Amino acid sequence: MSEDSLPENRMPVIRVPAMHADQNSGGSIFGGWIMSYVDIAGSIPALERVRGPVVTRAVDSFEFKKPVFVDDLVSCYAEIASEGRTSVKVKVEVFAERMDKGKTTCIKVTEAMLTYVAIDENRKPKLLPDV
Ligand SMILES: CC(C)(COP(=O)(O)OP(=O)(O)OC[C@H]1O[C@@H](n2cnc3c(N)ncnc32)[C@H](O)[C@@H]1OP(=O)(O)O)[C@@H](O)C(=O)NCCC(=O)NCCS
Repeated sequence: MSEDSLPENRMPVIRVPAMHADQNSGGSIFGGWIMSYVDIAGSIPALERVRGPVVTRAVDSFEFKKPVFVDDLVSCYAEIASEGRTSVKVKVEVFAERMDKGKTTCIKVTEAMLTYVAIDENRKPKLLPDV
């Protein structure tokens, strides 16, 4: 898949502009801000699959490939990569659209894999429901 354009035929689960308040002292966007959106984004296909509560069990991998800057329009794409008995692994890809002088460039900025576990009313792992 191209890393310099938004994925075709897929809907982002989150789109949000990066703002001044989200900056770190180095002038780019704070990694924790991006991690938070990645976790929220990843939970969405997990919730849809489980049709009930899920918790984040693990961040299996997380790569900040490129920096995000103020005014970038950040889009998070998330899809289930694999399923276990009680858990799903979700791949999250984050793209930044940068608008300048009437032109828009797009870059993949982050890629991550997270594991979400379905939990019951006692907060114990529960089997995934049938599809
Ligand atoms: C989620 C929780 C209930 C699971 O309990 P647990 O004792 O680890 O349960 P299990 O060992 O049976 O593992 C449950 C699933 O997680 C998977 N898992 C466990 N450790 C893992 C790890 N380090 N990385 C990836 N997956 C892992 C297991 O493979 C299993 O999946 P499967 O049933 O599909 O094979 C418990 O760990 C918990 O409450 N964690 C805190 C969650 C949290 O607060 N998250 C942050 C806010 S959402």
